[in-house]
Amino acid sequence: MEPITLIAGATRIGFCVDDDDRLRQVGFGPDLDTGTLVFAPWLYPLAYPTYGEDPFAAPALRVTNADGTPITRLVCTGHDRGHHDGGEIIAFSLRDEVAPLTVRIALRSWTDTGVIEQWVEVVNDQAGPITLHEVAAATPLLAGTAPHLDHFRGDWGAEFTPLHDRLTPGAKVLEARATTRPAHEVPPYVCYRPDGDVDETTGRVLAASLAWGGNLRIAFETARHGGVRAWFGHLPTGADYTLDPGVTFTTPTVLWAWSDAGRRPLTQRLHRWVRAHALRDGDRDRPVVVNNWEATGFDFDADRLDRFCRETAEVGGEVFLLDDGWFGSEFPRDDDTQGLGDWAPDRRKLPDGLAGVGASAAAAGVRFGVWVEPEMVNPRSVLYRDHLDWVVAVPGRERREERNQLQLDLCRPDVADHVVGVLDGVLTPDIGADYVKWDANRMVTEPGSTALAADRQGNWPVDVVHATWAVMDRVVAAHPDTELLLCASGGGRMDLGTLSRFHDVWLSDNTDPVDRVRMQWHAAEFLPVAALAAHVTRWGQRPVAFACAVAMSARFGFDLNRDVLDDDEWAVCRRATAAYRRLRPIIQRGDLVRLVSPEHGPGAALAFVDDDRTEAVVFAYRLPDRDTDRDPVPDTLRIVGLDRVRRYEVTTIDLGADDPSTPECHTGAELADVGIPWHPIGACTAAIHHLTAASD
Ligand code: DGJ
Repeated sequence: MEPITLIAGATRIGFCVDDDDRLRQVGFGPDLDTGTLVFAPWLYPLAYPTYGEDPFAAPALRVTNADGTPITRLVCTGHDRGHHDGGEIIAFSLRDEVAPLTVRIALRSWTDTGVIEQWVEVVNDQAGPITLHEVAAATPLLAGTAPHLDHFRGDWGAEFTPLHDRLTPGAKVLEARATTRPAHEVPPYVCYRPDGDVDETTGRVLAASLAWGGNLRIAFETARHGGVRAWFGHLPTGADYTLDPGVTFTTPTVLWAWSDAGRRPLTQRLHRWVRAHALRDGDRDRPVVVNNWEATGFDFDADRLDRFCRETAEVGGEVFLLDDGWFGSEFPRDDDTQGLGDWAPDRRKLPDGLAGVGASAAAAGVRFGVWVEPEMVNPRSVLYRDHLDWVVAVPGRERREERNQLQLDLCRPDVADHVVGVLDGVLTPDIGADYVKWDANRMVTEPGSTALAADRQGNWPVDVVHATWAVMDRVVAAHPDTELLLCASGGGRMDLGTLSRFHDVWLSDNTDPVDRVRMQWHAAEFLPVAALAAHVTRWGQRPVAFACAVAMSARFGFDLNRDVLDDDEWAVCRRATAAYRRLRPIIQRGDLVRLVSPEHGPGAALAFVDDDRTEAVVFAYRLPDRDTDRDPVPDTLRIVGLDRVRRYEVTTIDLGADDPSTPECHTGAELADVGIPWHPIGACTAAIHHLTAASD
C-alpha cells in the first residue's frame, strides 16, 4: 500500500488508512518514505486520536455527544486532493457513525517555500447540540533520538526570550490563558529538534507556528511507544464549545516547515512565506515611522506635534505617528486613568482636531498615523457611562480593571459595528491619516458575554478571536490603503493569524538596543524583519549611533525627543535614516544570514543578502559583557551567504561621519573563510557594512 503524502520540499506529511478505515500517520518530516509502507497499516499511530479510544494519547478531540456520551471513534470515509495557486490541498473526511460527527483534517502545501498548513473542521451531524471540550488543530507524532524544544517567554519587555528544553518523559505544555495578549504568555512559534544539535547549516529542525490570536495550547508529550506527540490548538480550558446541529467548527491553523540543513534555510523560507502569504503587502517597502510616545507620553499640544511633524521630515522619516492621549473631552486622556473609548479629539490639546495634526504632517511632507485602542474602554468615559453592557463581564461579579480599563465585547454585533466606526472616524479624508497603530493593553479576567446565552459562555474564548478578526477584516476592506501596525502592550499579539491583517508589529516596548539585538535576533527566526518595528529611543541611554544601527536591522523608526539630543546625535539620526532608506529593499526583503549569535557572547552579527547575491548589508554589534558569555568578541567577521566566486566592494557606513569608508575588495570566498576585521570594539558600538558585487 502507498502512503498518501503531501510534500512541500523537506516538509512532508504522510498518512494511510488501515483495514478498519482508521486514518493513521505514516511519517512526518524529510525522512518520510513516500513510496511504500514499511509496516502493516494498523501499526502506525492514529492521526487524530479521540477521547475514549487510545487511553495513552492526549485526545486530539474530546466531545460530549448530544446523548451525553463522551466517546468518539472516527473512521476515514475518503479524501479529496486538489490544487490551490501555491500547491496542493488534501482533506481527509472522518466520521463517527454511532454519534454522527464529521471531522475534516485539512492540509495545504506551499511549494514555493516548503511550508505546510494544517487545520481541522468538525461538523455536528447529530440531532442536538454537542460540546467540544478539546479540538486540536494537529497532533502529529514526531520521531526523535534526542528531542529538544526551542520556545520563548514573551513577558512585557522581554518578548522572544529564548528557552531550550530537552524533552524528557512527560509533557511540556505551553498555554496562553489571558485572551487578549497571548504572545506575552506564549509567543506561538516553536522549533522541535529531533536529534538535539542544530546549527545554522546542519541538523534537522521543525519550525511550527499556531496562527491564533487567543488562548492557546502547544504541548509536546513523550509517547508511550516512542516519539513525541505534539498538540497544537486553542486552549480547551474555559472553552467548552457548544456546537449546534449542522454547524462547522474550524480550528486555528498550524504552520509546519522542516529543514534537514539547519536553521538558516528554515528562517529564509519562513520569511518568504510570511511576506508572500501572511503579512499584508509583504513585498512593499515599510516606511520610516516617527512616533511621539516615548518622547511626550500624554503631554503634548498642537504646537509640539507640529514641530514633531517638521522634525519627522528633517530626520528623513516618512510617517509621523501620533500615539495615545489625543482624545477625550469630558474625560480628557491626560493619563491612562480615563478617556479611553471617547474617540473625539481633546480640543484643549488639539484645537483643530486630528485634521489639524494631519495638516501639519502634510505641510511637512510626511504621512500621518494615529494610535487607537478600539477594543478597550476606561470606566471613566462617556462610552462606558452610556453602554455599561458593552464590556466583557459576568453578571453580578466585580468588573476588575487592568491599566484602569475594561475590554469591549466584540462578540456583540453593536459593539463590533461601533469599533469599525472608531476606525472609520479616524480615517476620514479631512484628517488624511493612512497609518494606524492598533493597540490592546489589558488581559481578560471574568470572561463573559451578553451576546451569548448562559449555556454558551464557553464559546466566547474562541468566538471573540473570530469576532476580533472580523472587525479587523472590515477595517482592512474599508481602508485598504491604510497601513496597520499591530501592538498589544508591545508584542502581546503577534500570531500569524492576527498579523495577516497588519503590515508590521510593535515587537516590544523595551527599546533598549542591547536587549533589542537579542529580541530581534530571536523574533527574526520566524518573522521577516520588515514586520518588526524597531524605533530608536533613549531606553538604556545607549549611544545614539548604536541605537540607530540596532533599529536599522529591522523596520526602522524613531520614538525620540529631539530636545534631548545634541546636534551631533541628531545628525547621526539623519544619516541613519538616509542609509536605511537606501538599503531598505535589501534589509526588508533580503535573505537573513545569521553570522554571530548574541546568545553566546558580546559579539553579534547578521547579514541581509539580496536574491541574486549582488548586494548585502551586514550589521555587527558589540554588547556589554554578561556573566553567561561563553565566547569572546570575535577578531574577524566572516561573512557567509554570498557568491564565493564574485568580488565584493565592502564599504563601512559610519553614522558619525558624512563620508563612507574607502571600499575594500574581497571575493565571497575570502569574506567567508578569512573575513574582515571586527569593527565594533567598545561596548555598545556597531558597524554597518554595505557589500556590492564588483562589475568585473
Ligand atoms: C502600549 C504600547 O506598547 C505603547 O507603545 C504605547 O502605544 C502605549 N500603549 C500607549 O498607551
